[in-house]
Amino acid sequence: MASTHTASVLVASNRGPVSYALDETGRLAAKRGGGGLVSGLSAIGPDADAVWVCSALGDGDREAVRRTGGALDPADTGGQRVRMLDIDPQVHTDAYNGIANSVLWFVHHMLYQTPLEPAFGAEFRRQWAAYETYNRAFAEALALEAGEGAAVLIQDYHLTLAPRMLRGLRPDLRIGHFSHTPWAPPEYFRVLPDDIAAQVLGGILGADRAAFLTQRWADAFTDCCHAVLGPGIPSGTRIGVHGLGADADFLRQRAHQPDVDERMAVLRKQIGSAPDGSRRRTIVRVDRTELSKNIVRGLLAYEELLETRPQWRERVVHIAFAYPSRQDLAVYRRYTEEVQRVAAEINSRYGTPGWTPVELHVKDDFARSLAAYRLADVALVNPIRDGMNLVAKEVPVVSDEGCALVLSREAGAFEELSEDAVAVNPYDIGGMAAALHEALSMGPGERAERTKRLAAQATALPPARWFLDQLAALGG
Ligand code: F6P
Repeated sequence: MASTHTASVLVASNRGPVSYALDETGRLAAKRGGGGLVSGLSAIGPDADAVWVCSALGDGDREAVRRTGGALDPADTGGQRVRMLDIDPQVHTDAYNGIANSVLWFVHHMLYQTPLEPAFGAEFRRQWAAYETYNRAFAEALALEAGEGAAVLIQDYHLTLAPRMLRGLRPDLRIGHFSHTPWAPPEYFRVLPDDIAAQVLGGILGADRAAFLTQRWADAFTDCCHAVLGPGIPSGTRIGVHGLGADADFLRQRAHQPDVDERMAVLRKQIGSAPDGSRRRTIVRVDRTELSKNIVRGLLAYEELLETRPQWRERVVHIAFAYPSRQDLAVYRRYTEEVQRVAAEINSRYGTPGWTPVELHVKDDFARSLAAYRLADVALVNPIRDGMNLVAKEVPVVSDEGCALVLSREAGAFEELSEDAVAVNPYDIGGMAAALHEALSMGPGERAERTKRLAAQATALPPARWFLDQLAALGG
C-alpha cells in the first residue's frame, strides 16, 4: 500500500460505511450504511482531509479492494475517502467471529451462561494470534494514511490492541479509542486469562483518550484497570464519556417517505381490530437477532401478559422485527431458531382465526421499522446489557401519537431516559409482563407527554456533536 501521510482525521472500524455485493455477471453493487459514525464524519466538512479505514467483510468487498487497490471509489461512498483493508479471510474470521464476537462481546454483555463456557484453550490462543495480526493490519494502515499530528478515532472491541500498536509506529498522532459496548465489571472481565485482560486494557491505554457511551461503562473500565494492572491509569490516558443520541433530522424526514407510508398500511392490516371493533394496541420491538437483545425473554413476558391479564387477548398485537445478525456463529443461529419457536408457540396457544398475537418478521427492512415506530403504542427494549440502544431513542422521535417505552435498566440509554420510561429488570419475566400492562394501560395524554420529553432527551446529543466533541477532546 502506497504511503499517503495526508489525512488529518482518521476513523478506524471493522465495518465500514459501505459494503459491496457481487452479482453473477461480475457487477459490484455498493450499499451505503447509516449510523452515528457516518453522519458524524460528514459533519467535519468537505475541507478536512478525512479517511475511514475499515475491513473487507465478504467476497464483494474483497473484489472491490482488488479492483481499487483499497481506496474505494468516492462515488460509492458519498464522497468519503475510505481505505478498505483486505485482511486474510481466515485471520478476519478468527479475529471477528472468534475473538471479537465470541469472547469480548460475551464478556462485556455478560453472556456466558453454562458451566462449560468459557474455556480458554489452544483454539482461543490461535484465534488471539489472529486478533493481534488483524489489529496490526489496522495500525499499519493508519500509520501510512495519517498526516503529522493527525487525530485518529479507533472504534470498539474489534480494535482494542490497535491504539498501542499505532502509538509505537507513530508517536506524533493524537489517538482516541471509543467503546460502543458496555464495559464488564472487573469480577466478570477477569474471566479472561490474566495476560489477555492486561493486553486488552493496555492496548486501549495506548490511546490518549479512552471514551465510552455512559459514565457506568467508563467507571467499569477504570475499575478493570485497577484490578488487573494496579492502581492508577498507568499511561496517563484520559477517560471520557460521550453519549450518542438519535439523528432527529434524518429520522423525521426518512419516516415520512412514501415507502414508509405504504408499510404502515400493510402493518395496520396485519394488526386489524378487536372483535368489538375497537382499535387493537401494538407492542413493537426492533432488534438484530443478537443474544444481548433478550428477545426470547421479551416474548415470554408477552406470553405471561396474555396468560395473567386475559383482557388483552385479541386486543393487542406484538410486532417483533428480529433481523439476522452474525449468522456464521452457531450460537446466533440457534438463538434465531429459539426466537421463531417461541413466537410460533405463542401464536398456536393463544391465536384465534381473526388474531395473530405475534407478528415476527426476520427480513431486514428499515422503512418497515420506521413504520412500526410511527404506529407503536408500546416499544419494548429489554436488553440484558447494551452500550446505549438507539431504538429506545429513535421510537419517541418518530412516533405519530405517542408511544410508551418499556426499557431495560441495563441499557446505556436508561441513564438518560429513566424518568419517562417504564423500567424493567431484563431477567424478570413477571416484572416485564407487568410493565407491558402498565404501558398498554397508559392514557393517551400521559403517553404523548412522556414521548415528547423522551424525544427531547433522545436528540440532545446528535451524532455530529458526538463525533465533533471527541475530536475537540483530543485537542490539536
Ligand atoms: O454495539 C456495538 C457495535 O459495534 C455497533 O456499533 C455495531 O452495530 C455492532 O456492535 C457490530 O455489529 P456487527 O458484528 O454486525 O458489525
